[in-house]
Amino acid sequence: MYQGRKVFAILLAAGSGRRMNMEGKKQFFRIHGRPLFQYSLHCLEESEYVDGIVMVSCEEDLPYMKEILSKDDGKHEKVLGFFPGGKERYHSVYAGLFGLKCFLSGDKDPIVLVHDSARPMLTHEIVEDSIRGAVEHHASVAGVQSKDTVRILDKDGKACDTPARSSVCIIQTPQAFDYSMLSKAYEKLIKEEEEGRLSALVTDDAMVCELYMGVRPFISRGSYRNIKITTAEDLKLLDLWLSESDGS
Ligand code: CTP
Ligand code: MG
Repeated sequence: MYQGRKVFAILLAAGSGRRMNMEGKKQFFRIHGRPLFQYSLHCLEESEYVDGIVMVSCEEDLPYMKEILSKDDGKHEKVLGFFPGGKERYHSVYAGLFGLKCFLSGDKDPIVLVHDSARPMLTHEIVEDSIRGAVEHHASVAGVQSKDTVRILDKDGKACDTPARSSVCIIQTPQAFDYSMLSKAYEKLIKEEEEGRLSALVTDDAMVCELYMGVRPFISRGSYRNIKITTAEDLKLLDLWLSESDGS
């Protein structure tokens, strides 16, 4: 609960981890004794503001995920349910939003926070900033300023525009929204897809909000450690950071 609004999280773990180029799915890789998805789950469970969490994973992995959670030490009281994801990330978010529906009571419009389980270095500060951003601005996405200069390429792959570095932001999750707005945006997206009219390449939730509801998100404070584990070198970095924090 944050300023009278209930807060629900959707934790995404239904990807296939193709870019990792390793056997198995990255969300289940054991690192420092725990499957990857459990790091951000733990942070969300420990958050004083998060009231409930829905887990989204590939249908065939749902029993495995439930088994992992039933066998560890945690009680996972905040985990409301497990739902099968879809082919693309946005299908999985839609599945999470749909799944969440039956846990909502008639309270004030809740906040829904969407997080990629592939970002294990989530912190309470990031979660709180994200929720506050959504309460104040209806939509917020975590981000950090780019450390590198970014060049926009033309169709021949030659550099053309150079945006000012201070105006370039690297987008992360969590992304948090008014539940009613995000679910309406996703319903429009899925309807467009069903009717074969989907034209935009959708990569995150803020894009869906902007495209279908015209709401531009506030950028909440992310962190340079809140990386998305995408390729093998990211795992090495994670290993290093976890070693620092557990003193191994
Ligand atoms: N995700 C999901 N459903 C999908 C695709 C992605 O729930 N159909 C989740 C992933 O599990 C991950 C997050 O969205 O936590 C971000 O996606 P990404 O890092 O791209 O993970 P993958 O899609 O698994 O990896 P890749 O793109 O390399 O295959
Ligand atoms: Mg992907």
